[in-house]
Amino acid sequence: MPWEKGEPSPGLVDFLGSHPSLGKGTVCVPGCGTGHDARVWAAAGFETHGYDIAPSAIRLACEKTRAAGLNATFTLADFLSSEPPARFDYFFEHTLFCAIQPVQRDDYCRALLRWLKPGGVYLAVNYLIPDEDGPPFGTTREELIGRFSPDFELIEDWVPRSYPNRTGLERMFWWQSRGA
Ligand SMILES: C[S@@+](CC[C@H](N)C(=O)[O-])C[C@H]1O[C@@H](n2cnc3c(N)ncnc32)[C@H](O)[C@@H]1O
Repeated sequence: MPWEKGEPSPGLVDFLGSHPSLGKGTVCVPGCGTGHDARVWAAAGFETHGYDIAPSAIRLACEKTRAAGLNATFTLADFLSSEPPARFDYFFEHTLFCAIQPVQRDDYCRALLRWLKPGGVYLAVNYLIPDEDGPPFGTTREELIGRFSPDFELIEDWVPRSYPNRTGLERMFWWQSRGA
């Protein structure tokens, strides 16, 4: 699993560290892998729920979270086709958008609107690579702005601190749902 870095997204760690007064709430981490990012949200005081289609990822995420003495739930689910158990205040994306087939990106946008509360926050660490023969499949800032702007206000986007082999290739987007 080349995406398994053994640690959370540096960009997420920095974001939560620099926004200590962010309102607490429920967080959905789809495509959570072994749960590194979910544990950062949980450690920051958010009620955190990870989802993945890989049973091994869910098992490892549960084991690592228990070993860390943290609280988060991990559930086997296909986020693209499932109905959410509840709608979330926050939705955190990290290398799921680039992992799915590009033809599934419309499904991704529809699922995001189903899983997130109206007015909720969509925080994404996107992988801006040119690759068309993934996974990972590349995207551009222009594509992301075009896809999400109709339903989300862009609060801020920036180049985050990254893992060494992704430096300069990631971009974070902080969106807020326009839903009432
Ligand atoms: C590139 S990995 C990233 C894992 C994790 N976000 C990380 O960065 O460490 C993509 C993950 O998304 C999961 N995944 C792919 N399609 C999914 C879907 N439709 N629903 C839920 N999880 C999915 C995969 O099983 C895998 O664990």
